[in-house]
Amino acid sequence: MVNKITVVGAGNVGATAAQRIAEKELARTVVMVDVADGVPQGKGLDQWESAPIELFDSRVIGSNGYDESAGSDIVVITAGIARKPGMSRDDLLNTNAGIVKSVAEQVAKTSPNAIIIVVSNPLDVMCYVAMKASGFPRERVIGMAGVLDTARYRSFLAMELDVSVRDIQAMVLGGHGDTMVPLISYTSVSGIPITQLMAKDKLDAIVDRARNGGAEIVKFLKTGSAYYAPSSGAVQMVEAIVRDQKRILPCSAWLQGEYGMKDLFLGVPVKLGRGGMEKIIEVSLSADEKVALAKSADAVREPMGVVKL
Ligand code: NAI
Ligand code: 2OP
Repeated sequence: MVNKITVVGAGNVGATAAQRIAEKELARTVVMVDVADGVPQGKGLDQWESAPIELFDSRVIGSNGYDESAGSDIVVITAGIARKPGMSRDDLLNTNAGIVKSVAEQVAKTSPNAIIIVVSNPLDVMCYVAMKASGFPRERVIGMAGVLDTARYRSFLAMELDVSVRDIQAMVLGGHGDTMVPLISYTSVSGIPITQLMAKDKLDAIVDRARNGGAEIVKFLKTGSAYYAPSSGAVQMVEAIVRDQKRILPCSAWLQGEYGMKDLFLGVPVKLGRGGMEKIIEVSLSADEKVALAKSADAVREPMGVVKL
């Protein structure tokens, strides 16, 4: 358990993440920060009132400012808006960049030693904004998307094969978008290569469904996007850091030559421990996977080039 974890943005992803963090007792105090008057306070109190039933002692509080969050060990940034009618992708990009920038600046002032986990979209570019605005080293700014994309892929495989999700090992790399790269060559069921258990057309359909997993949920919900699995993904990363688990998870990390790429955030296998992003693991990729990863990197570089910092 660490002393304090802050979740910025007390919306669907943020509030659910805060609740999961408290229920797992990952911090003595869990702080939700949001600009909406009363919302983080109300949700924080409501979550804390569940403690005697769920049996956790993490104290959950909400605030509209950063005083209560000062000295946080970890800050999860989920603040942002969804695209509205009439808004271009660039409008959304720059609106959320403005939000993430101001949040990261506040975090740097009040919690200078924190590890930042970014969730806000467009994910890989928001990681870049958060790193620039906070001035934190790359070890302490990490993006959550690969854990979610991999969880979706694993859940679809488990459904199709009618086996436990526990036995599906897989890794989805690349940017958080439809260019993401599920690594079929590293997908197995209790060590059995997936290609021995599933026909190519079925596997291709599952890869495609994972790539469009976010859109599938939006289509059902109509007014918002996924938050149960995304908050689980963020909290798995938080837990790996708090408990110094040295887990290897796909996370968005600032590449400095790894995978032959430099100066961009991209989803790659990362060792997560108490120091944050402790190592980027380089795995060998097939020729097709290399091409796909390069294409995914291009899809991240394009908005990175136009974002206003
Ligand atoms: P939401 O709309 O439910 O919550 C966003 C919250 O941010 C709102 O409560 C809003 O008041 C708050 N906010 C806005 N500006 C703020 C500021 N300056 N400071 C503090 N709080 C502020 O949205 P939801 O569903 O929670 O999603 C949050 C973000 O996470 C979105 O950008 C979404 O696209 C992204 N997301 C990313 C995923 C990933 O895999 N990386 C998965 C799911 C969502
Ligand atoms: C998702 O993948 C919207 O990025 C979000 O569900």
